[in-house]
Amino acid sequence: MQPDSVQALARRGAQLATESPMADYIVEHFQRSSVGDGAEPYIPLCIAENSQLHDLVLPRIRAAAEVPGRILGYDAMIGAEEFRTQLGAFMGRTFLGRCFPPEQIAVMAGAGTVLENVFYALADPGDAVLVPTPSYAGFWTDLETRNGLSIVPVHCAADEEFKLTPARLEAALASSERPVKALLFTNPDNPRGSVATPAEIEQVLAWAEGHGIHVVFDEIYALSVFGETPFTSVAQVRPKLGSHVHIVWAFSKDFGASGLRCGLLVSENEALLAAVNGLAYWGAVSGHTQWMLGQLISDEAWVDHYCAELRRRLGVTYARVAQALGAAGIPMVPAEAGIFVLCDMRQFLGDPSWDAEHALWRRILDGANVNVTPGSACRIEEPGFMRLCYAAIPLDTVLCGIERIGRLLHGPPPGLRP
Ligand SMILES: Cc1ncc(COP(=O)(O)O)c(C=O)c1O
Repeated sequence: MQPDSVQALARRGAQLATESPMADYIVEHFQRSSVGDGAEPYIPLCIAENSQLHDLVLPRIRAAAEVPGRILGYDAMIGAEEFRTQLGAFMGRTFLGRCFPPEQIAVMAGAGTVLENVFYALADPGDAVLVPTPSYAGFWTDLETRNGLSIVPVHCAADEEFKLTPARLEAALASSERPVKALLFTNPDNPRGSVATPAEIEQVLAWAEGHGIHVVFDEIYALSVFGETPFTSVAQVRPKLGSHVHIVWAFSKDFGASGLRCGLLVSENEALLAAVNGLAYWGAVSGHTQWMLGQLISDEAWVDHYCAELRRRLGVTYARVAQALGAAGIPMVPAEAGIFVLCDMRQFLGDPSWDAEHALWRRILDGANVNVTPGSACRIEEPGFMRLCYAAIPLDTVLCGIERIGRLLHGPPPGLRP
């Protein structure tokens, strides 16, 4: 980058231009995706996308080609009322357990945009937000890059099955040097694919209520649940959300439609909704997308079939992936939801350090041409875990990637190759 082009920007522009908020594994992903296939083609197992149900979703999108003229014009920036009404009915039936009215729903360009705008309104620059770890890597950019907030990780330990406890929340709160305004809780969780029980949700709520802080429930994987623990939304645990509990969801994961950029906030806090309304113009969803998705979710019979098929296919894929990891000698944390598993590669580290984890990630990338998400990106307390996403590419390719990693990890150590 030319220095004078950077100097021509304001401080914040220069910072964004020179310190890309993009993690190493994403940068590598884009570089390797654009290079032609060699002897061992690149296998990306680092992207949390689901293309397994495109055969069901795409025909519905194509069928919605006859669009009404009104989609060309301005509408409410938090989403057309008709679409928010359709969303309230759809979510009520499928995962929230009750129907929210359109006034309590705000639609924006993906869950990331919703989170950025919600936290803009809940906390001021310099304030802190608690995020349990292991965590979705993107929360750091969503909350810190433009909003200037500071995430305080609530580390959950591998030897406690990564359970979040009030004691861990309390310790994180006490450790924060800044005022803590909110807790961001993901259920089902990314990267572990765990599903919180009603008792666990109640515990989190009780703790947050005791401290008077907001809790944002990221329920973006609500429908992608295939294990024995059924999904419970916070909306089922609290028949009234009240002013401090908010829900985020998007089409990105459950409908494998991350490129459509459509997410939403559900809240009963009128002031938060009004604040978000004031920001929605800069992250609005196109009228075309809203109309098309509205058609999709209004067909109840199709939605019911889709949800059952989503669960079934994810369950089958997960079982094959777990089996392949076992055969490759790679331990993993059992999952019940989501489109990824957390692999425990601690035994393959030279020493228990972040440098060793980075070296292992590099070794897998350069030696097997497979990209996984390093645990450091998920802010895991301890080095040696890697997230492996299995639904973005065909299963055979995923299994081939796992086999390659297994061969590499159990083969001769680096430096001893002939
Ligand atoms: C837990 C979680 N929240 C939010 C997002 C961002 O979703 P979107 O693409 O809708 O912005 C992701 C994407 O991976 C995620 O896993």
